[in-house]
Amino acid sequence: MPQLIEGRKIAEKVYADLRTEIAGMKERGLTPGLAVVLVGDNPASRAYVRSKDKMCRDLGLHSVKLELPTETTQSELLARVEELNRDPAIHGILVQSPPPKQIDEAAIVRALDPAKDVDGFHPANVAKLALGDESGFVPCTPLGCQRLLIESGIEISGAHVVVLGRSMIVGKPLALLLMRKGRGGDATVTVAHSRSRQLAEITRSADILIAAIGQPEFVRAEHVREGAVVIDVGINRVDDATTERGYRLVGDVAFSEVSPKASAITPVPGGVGPMTIAMLMANTVKACRQI
Ligand code: GUN
Repeated sequence: MPQLIEGRKIAEKVYADLRTEIAGMKERGLTPGLAVVLVGDNPASRAYVRSKDKMCRDLGLHSVKLELPTETTQSELLARVEELNRDPAIHGILVQSPPPKQIDEAAIVRALDPAKDVDGFHPANVAKLALGDESGFVPCTPLGCQRLLIESGIEISGAHVVVLGRSMIVGKPLALLLMRKGRGGDATVTVAHSRSRQLAEITRSADILIAAIGQPEFVRAEHVREGAVVIDVGINRVDDATTERGYRLVGDVAFSEVSPKASAITPVPGGVGPMTIAMLMANTVKACRQI
């Protein structure tokens, strides 16, 4: 059986370190503050926002949850972002994605103070990641994937990592992060996606395969080399009438057929998901540290 990479346990370790740092900050009269803005009532987004708020409270962070109606206009949302930019009690701001269709998400991201952009989506932070400037914010899910690999003792340096997916939230920043010089980097990175030719041939050449393509159970046994490490970023709701909620969560990896071939693999749920929230908390503490 492969090593199961348990995100929940690794996230606990991150929280233990954060609690120590937060206690030190509070002694100096500083409490890191995070504002999460949700526009509309997408059920998955509501669930994420709720768990972020809960985790903030659990760690003793100052937490502001702004829930705005689906009809919120661009200028109303911009005004709220600008208020949060000016608020000295708020060190991190996250606008939950995806927003309703009247919202120009890129313009909202550009309006964020880059020093409070704990999602790492602002062009200034994207540039810092590409430049290797450690003062920038790296998106939480890629940061969580990297931390899972480091804490699981998986050698990244020199490994061939295939990232499946090229989104601005996961694929692109993850590729930049893992090819960076130094600890947790130095990988040989290939980015493949839904249009890549001979995809299975590419993914089979991976020492570490990271699936972030957003399609339920896309990665099958044929995509994976014997002994590879498999990180599953996907969280997909698929209809399932046999469950109480009417759906179940599956990853981008067909776990039952891929896991016998893998040397280590993340479960869904309980793999990358808990790490994403842990890294959001870590970025918020970093934002406060850097003021
Ligand atoms: N929606 C899904 N993942 C994310 C994320 O990491 N940040 C934001 N803002 N929205 C998301």
